[in-house]
Amino acid sequence: MTKVLIATDKPFAPAAVNAIREVVEGAGYELALLESYTDKAELIAAVADVDGMIIRSDKATREVIEAAKNLKVIVRAGAGYDNIDLEACTENGIVAMNTPGQNSNAVAELALGMMVFLARKGYNGKAGVELRGKNIGIHAYGNVGKHVANIAKGFGMTVYAFDPFVAKEAIEADGVKAVDTVEELYSTCHYVSLHIPANDKTKKSINYDLLNKMPEGGILVNTARKEVIDEEGMLKLMEDRKDFAYISDIAPDCADEFAAKYEGRFFFTPKKMGAQTAEANINAGIAGANQIVNLIEKGDETFRVNK
Ligand code: 3PG
Repeated sequence: MTKVLIATDKPFAPAAVNAIREVVEGAGYELALLESYTDKAELIAAVADVDGMIIRSDKATREVIEAAKNLKVIVRAGAGYDNIDLEACTENGIVAMNTPGQNSNAVAELALGMMVFLARKGYNGKAGVELRGKNIGIHAYGNVGKHVANIAKGFGMTVYAFDPFVAKEAIEADGVKAVDTVEELYSTCHYVSLHIPANDKTKKSINYDLLNKMPEGGILVNTARKEVIDEEGMLKLMEDRKDFAYISDIAPDCADEFAAKYEGRFFFTPKKMGAQTAEANINAGIAGANQIVNLIEKGDETFRVNK
C-alpha cells in the first residue's frame, strides 16, 4: 500500500493532521506520523518504506533521502526549502515541492505582532511608540511580503518594497512604493521586514553596512531565516548604534550576547512560530497532501522545486 509520512519535529495542529489524513486515506493510502522526534535516527527509521512525505523545517539531508528507498515525493509544507538536499532528491529521482502562500498570512501577522510588542516595550507599562506614520520596508515582495504590506497599511504605516524579481508596476499597483535598490530601502525605512530565502546568494547578506543605513531608531524584523544575517556585523551595529533594535522569529546563534547586553532592544520567539497557526497548518498540510496524491496518481509536478 502507498504510504505517506508526516514527519514534523514541530507538530501541526491536530486539526491539520486530521485534514491530511482525510486526503491521504481518501486516496487509499496509509498515513504514518512521526512528531516531536529528538533524534535524526528516528526520522531515518521512519522514512524507510514511505512513498511520500510531508515535512516542515525538518532536515531532509542526503542521509535521510538515501534512507527513503521508496520515496517519490517530499513536500515541504511551507515556503522555504533550504532544509531539503535538492541535489540528493534529484539524484535519487525524487520530486521535491513546497506549498507557496499557504502559511504566509500567519507569518505576516507574527511580524506585525512582534513589532507591536517591541514598540510597546514588551507591555511593561511604560510609554512606547506607535507604528502609525512610520515607514516600513518589505525586503522581497513575495507571498509573506504582500501580507505584511497589507497589514502595515492598516496600521497607517507608509510601505516601501524592494524586490528585483517583481516588476515595479506590480508592487505599485498594491499601493506600495517600489524602490530601485536595497540600500534605498534600508535608508528610507524605520522598520525593514525580511522575506528573502536562505541560499548561497543571500546568506550573511544583511550586514553591518546595509543595516547602518537605517534611520535613527531602525528596527530589523526577521521572519525569514537566521542564516541571511551576518551576525558579527549585527553585533557590531548593536554596539555602535544604541538606537537600533532587532526582532526575530528565529533566534540568532549569538542570542545569549543579546540577552546579556541589549535588554529592550531585541525580541526573539522561543521557537520559530511564524507559521504555527491552525489555519496555516491546515492550509499547508492539505496542499502538501494533495500535491503528493496528484504527483503519484497523475504525475502532476506543480510546485516542484528541484530539477
Ligand atoms: C516557511 O518557510 O514556510 C516558514 O519558515 C515556516 O516554517 P515551519 O513550518 O517550520 O514553521
